[in-house]
Amino acid sequence: MTSKPRTRVLTGITTTGTPHLGNYVGAIRPTVQASRDSSTDGFYFLADYHALIKCGEPARVQRSTLEIAASWIASGLDPKNVTFYRQSDIPEIPELTWLLTCVTGKGLLNRAHAYKAAVDKNTAAGHDPDSDVTAGLFMYPVLMGADILMFKAHKVPVGRDQIQHIEMARDMASSFNHLYGEHLVQPEAVIEESVALLPGLDGRKMSKSYDNTIPLFAPSTELRKHIAGILTDSKLPGEAKTIEGSALFQIYQAFANADETAAMAKAYADGISWGDAKQMLFERIDREVAPMREQYQALISNPAQVDQILLEGADKARQLAIPFMRELRHAVGLRALASGNTAKVAKVAKSAVPSFKQYREKNGQFYFKLMDEQGQLVLQSLGFESPKAAGQTIARLQTEGVSCLPEIAPLLEPVQAGHAQVIAELLNKMESAKVIK
Ligand code: TRP
Repeated sequence: MTSKPRTRVLTGITTTGTPHLGNYVGAIRPTVQASRDSSTDGFYFLADYHALIKCGEPARVQRSTLEIAASWIASGLDPKNVTFYRQSDIPEIPELTWLLTCVTGKGLLNRAHAYKAAVDKNTAAGHDPDSDVTAGLFMYPVLMGADILMFKAHKVPVGRDQIQHIEMARDMASSFNHLYGEHLVQPEAVIEESVALLPGLDGRKMSKSYDNTIPLFAPSTELRKHIAGILTDSKLPGEAKTIEGSALFQIYQAFANADETAAMAKAYADGISWGDAKQMLFERIDREVAPMREQYQALISNPAQVDQILLEGADKARQLAIPFMRELRHAVGLRALASGNTAKVAKVAKSAVPSFKQYREKNGQFYFKLMDEQGQLVLQSLGFESPKAAGQTIARLQTEGVSCLPEIAPLLEPVQAGHAQVIAELLNKMESAKVIK
């Protein structure tokens, strides 16, 4: 039992390609390790809205989402211990994106690296600066800000190229809070110093865009072929090799422990042949990856199971996103018109708890309604003949929760789409709330 609040760690992977060893070493493996730490509360997601920015191929986005989800699970991420979901299953994220868009300076976005690189490239080529630049690319940091701020993440593990986006999310949070009060939490970027960038086949950073990747879960014959393609110098067997600048060595190091790494360094000095060094690398990677490969294949051939896991994760995530978005909508003034003037509401909002109200109308019938903390109506009954009948229906809601909604539906005004979830939340919070008569 710990009373210390857990640190919320959140990160996403854009779903545009097949996961490779660089993704594994740089993102998947460290997040799986972090997810086992009981002092952290992990939020891991598939950034498929982000994928649309770079990729106009629907089949590829779909396939990549499956592959990345399966990779994460096969690598040991336990969806029961963390909140694991697909970004596009959370409609509150694009909703928050708009609220953030309205507090984000256009000038701030002008300075985002990805956008600026595109503009610089166009300018150098003598094209219009914004030629082929979509508004999606321009807005990329705002969508990412919504991912992070929605779940009040404290720490966001990312690659160096993403630090600027976290800083922008901090800017958005402070502009929003300045205008509307303290609602958003300032995130911090976490850069894994120990995770060196993994070089690819040609020695440059392993990356889809360089076409130098080694797929994480290729069958072992294919893995061996890819490894055979790693660029080396032309030193002969028996000649001492240098570890500095050797992509093969760096990849080996990313998988090996200290002793194994020292042994490989010695083998280099002793003149191991490149063929033998590649064999050692293959064996070392295969040893780590082979046990996971089977589960990966099983998941890939059962996409419905992956859908199920992701939907359960989305449900969990939305239990936070739905009420938080309600709070934010209220904060910016998107409120029920009957919820009074701002000053009054602000005062009420501080101390109020959700409550049932029972009352009698002029027609002589008895009614009840459920109000949220801000005094907004979420559930309205029809008329009852007696206060007791109204009270019994309230009691059912309090004891059985939303599961009784279908049965008591004939006694209620139609429940608005999405409100069942909200009602469930409120009922949970209401142990302390009393029925006001
Ligand atoms: N932009 C990130 C990348 O390409 C992926 C991403 C989207 C992300 N939303 C995020 C990472 C939120 C961390 C937090 O690597």
